[in-house]
Amino acid sequence: MAVRNASQGILADDKTEQREQIIEMLTKAYWMEIETVMSYITNSVNPDGIRAREIIESLQQDIQEELGHAQQFAARIKELYGVVPGSLEFNAEQSYLQPPEHQTDITHVVRGVIEAESGAIEHYNRIIEFTDGLDPVTNDMVIAILHDEEGHRRLFEGFLRELAPDETR
Ligand SMILES: [Fe+2]
Ligand SMILES: [Fe+2]
Repeated sequence: MAVRNASQGILADDKTEQREQIIEMLTKAYWMEIETVMSYITNSVNPDGIRAREIIESLQQDIQEELGHAQQFAARIKELYGVVPGSLEFNAEQSYLQPPEHQTDITHVVRGVIEAESGAIEHYNRIIEFTDGLDPVTNDMVIAILHDEEGHRRLFEGFLRELAPDETR
Protein backbone atom coordinates (compact mmCIF):
# COMPACT_ATOMS: atom_id res chain seq x y z
CA MET A 1 0.00 0.00 0.00
CA ALA A 2 1.37 3.40 -0.96
CA VAL A 3 2.03 5.87 1.80
CA ARG A 4 -0.56 8.58 1.81
CA ASN A 5 0.79 12.02 0.91
CA ALA A 6 -0.33 15.15 2.68
CA SER A 7 -2.74 17.02 0.45
CA GLN A 8 -2.27 20.33 2.18
CA GLY A 9 0.57 22.45 3.44
CA ILE A 10 4.28 22.28 2.83
CA LEU A 11 4.33 18.45 2.74
CA ALA A 12 1.97 18.31 -0.27
CA ASP A 13 3.31 16.93 -3.57
CA ASP A 14 2.84 20.21 -5.40
CA LYS A 15 5.07 21.99 -2.87
CA THR A 16 8.20 20.00 -3.74
CA GLU A 17 10.01 22.96 -5.23
CA GLN A 18 9.34 25.28 -2.28
CA ARG A 19 10.26 22.47 0.10
CA GLU A 20 13.62 22.14 -1.59
CA GLN A 21 14.27 25.86 -1.28
CA ILE A 22 13.44 25.72 2.42
CA ILE A 23 15.70 22.68 2.90
CA GLU A 24 18.54 24.60 1.24
CA MET A 25 18.06 27.53 3.62
CA LEU A 26 17.78 25.21 6.63
CA THR A 27 20.96 23.43 5.58
CA LYS A 28 22.85 26.72 5.48
CA ALA A 29 21.41 27.55 8.91
CA TYR A 30 22.48 24.12 10.18
CA TRP A 31 26.08 24.70 9.08
CA MET A 32 26.10 28.20 10.55
CA GLU A 33 25.08 26.76 13.91
CA ILE A 34 27.67 23.98 13.71
CA GLU A 35 30.44 26.44 12.91
CA THR A 36 29.24 28.73 15.70
CA VAL A 37 29.48 25.84 18.16
CA MET A 38 33.09 25.26 17.04
CA SER A 39 33.99 28.94 17.23
CA TYR A 40 32.34 29.43 20.62
CA ILE A 41 34.14 26.41 22.09
CA THR A 42 37.44 27.86 20.83
CA ASN A 43 36.71 31.32 22.14
CA SER A 44 35.36 30.12 25.47
CA VAL A 45 38.67 28.43 26.18
CA ASN A 46 41.43 30.61 24.70
CA PRO A 47 40.90 34.05 26.28
CA ASP A 48 43.13 35.17 29.14
CA GLY A 49 42.68 37.93 31.68
CA ILE A 50 40.21 39.34 34.19
CA ARG A 51 37.95 40.77 31.51
CA ALA A 52 37.68 37.40 29.78
CA ARG A 53 35.68 35.81 32.60
CA GLU A 54 32.20 37.07 31.66
CA ILE A 55 32.77 36.40 27.98
CA ILE A 56 33.87 32.84 28.65
CA GLU A 57 30.85 32.13 30.83
CA SER A 58 28.42 33.58 28.29
CA LEU A 59 29.95 31.61 25.45
CA GLN A 60 29.87 28.40 27.45
CA GLN A 61 26.14 28.87 27.87
CA ASP A 62 25.61 29.84 24.22
CA ILE A 63 27.38 26.69 22.99
CA GLN A 64 24.53 24.60 24.37
CA GLU A 65 21.90 26.84 22.80
CA GLU A 66 23.60 26.89 19.39
CA LEU A 67 23.94 23.10 19.52
CA GLY A 68 20.23 22.87 20.25
CA HIS A 69 19.54 25.12 17.25
CA ALA A 70 21.66 22.88 14.99
CA GLN A 71 19.64 19.87 16.16
CA GLN A 72 16.36 21.67 15.49
CA PHE A 73 17.44 22.67 11.99
CA ALA A 74 18.56 19.09 11.28
CA ALA A 75 15.27 17.62 12.50
CA ARG A 76 13.28 20.04 10.36
CA ILE A 77 15.34 19.17 7.26
CA LYS A 78 14.34 15.54 7.73
CA GLU A 79 10.68 16.37 8.34
CA LEU A 80 10.64 18.17 5.00
CA TYR A 81 11.99 14.98 3.31
CA GLY A 82 15.53 16.32 3.10
CA VAL A 83 18.74 14.62 4.18
CA VAL A 84 21.04 16.24 6.73
CA PRO A 85 24.47 16.55 5.07
CA GLY A 86 27.60 14.78 6.30
CA SER A 87 30.64 16.51 7.70
CA LEU A 88 32.56 16.38 4.39
CA GLU A 89 30.19 18.99 3.00
CA PHE A 90 31.15 21.49 5.65
CA ASN A 91 32.80 24.75 4.56
CA ALA A 92 34.12 27.12 7.20
CA GLU A 93 33.26 30.83 6.84
CA GLN A 94 33.81 32.48 10.22
CA SER A 95 37.18 34.14 9.53
CA TYR A 96 36.27 36.78 12.13
CA LEU A 97 36.11 34.24 14.96
CA GLN A 98 39.62 32.84 14.59
CA PRO A 99 41.85 33.15 17.66
CA PRO A 100 43.37 36.64 18.01
CA GLU A 101 47.11 37.23 18.08
CA HIS A 102 47.00 37.89 21.83
CA GLN A 103 44.65 35.84 23.98
CA THR A 104 43.89 38.89 26.12
CA ASP A 105 42.33 40.58 23.08
CA ILE A 106 38.80 40.01 24.28
CA THR A 107 37.39 42.83 22.12
CA HIS A 108 38.30 40.77 19.04
CA VAL A 109 36.22 37.89 20.38
CA VAL A 110 33.26 40.10 21.25
CA ARG A 111 33.29 41.69 17.78
CA GLY A 112 33.47 38.22 16.21
CA VAL A 113 30.48 37.00 18.20
CA ILE A 114 28.45 40.06 17.19
CA GLU A 115 29.37 39.36 13.55
CA ALA A 116 28.28 35.70 13.83
CA GLU A 117 25.02 36.59 15.55
CA SER A 118 24.29 39.32 13.00
CA GLY A 119 24.82 36.84 10.15
CA ALA A 120 22.45 34.38 11.80
CA ILE A 121 19.86 37.11 12.39
CA GLU A 122 20.00 38.12 8.70
CA HIS A 123 19.70 34.56 7.41
CA TYR A 124 16.91 33.61 9.83
CA ASN A 125 14.93 36.70 8.90
CA ARG A 126 15.16 35.53 5.28
CA ILE A 127 13.84 32.08 6.24
CA ILE A 128 11.01 33.63 8.25
CA GLU A 129 10.06 35.83 5.30
CA PHE A 130 10.17 32.95 2.83
CA THR A 131 8.17 30.53 4.98
CA ASP A 132 5.54 33.08 6.00
CA GLY A 133 2.16 31.67 4.94
CA LEU A 134 3.92 28.70 3.28
CA ASP A 135 5.40 26.59 6.07
CA PRO A 136 4.08 27.70 9.48
CA VAL A 137 6.03 25.07 11.42
CA THR A 138 9.43 26.14 10.06
CA ASN A 139 8.34 29.75 10.38
CA ASP A 140 7.44 29.31 14.05
CA MET A 141 10.62 27.36 14.83
CA VAL A 142 12.91 29.91 13.22
CA ILE A 143 11.14 32.82 14.94
CA ALA A 144 11.95 31.21 18.30
CA ILE A 145 15.58 30.66 17.25
CA LEU A 146 15.81 34.25 16.00
CA HIS A 147 14.69 35.37 19.44
CA ASP A 148 17.67 33.54 20.98
CA GLU A 149 20.12 35.08 18.48
CA GLU A 150 18.81 38.59 19.12
CA GLY A 151 19.35 37.98 22.83
CA HIS A 152 22.91 36.77 22.21
CA ARG A 153 23.69 39.74 20.02
CA ARG A 154 22.29 42.23 22.49
CA LEU A 155 24.31 40.74 25.33
CA PHE A 156 27.56 41.02 23.38
CA GLU A 157 26.73 44.53 22.22
CA GLY A 158 26.59 45.36 25.90
CA PHE A 159 30.04 43.85 26.39
CA LEU A 160 31.37 45.89 23.46
CA ARG A 161 29.99 49.09 24.99
CA GLU A 162 32.18 48.51 27.97
CA LEU A 163 35.24 47.34 26.01
CA ALA A 164 35.13 49.93 23.23
CA PRO A 165 32.90 52.77 24.47
CA ASP A 166 34.02 55.16 21.71
CA GLU A 167 32.65 53.12 18.86
CA THR A 168 29.32 52.16 20.38
CA ARG A 169 26.24 54.05 21.42
FE1 LIG B 1 21.97 29.70 17.02
FE1 LIG C 1 23.52 32.76 18.85
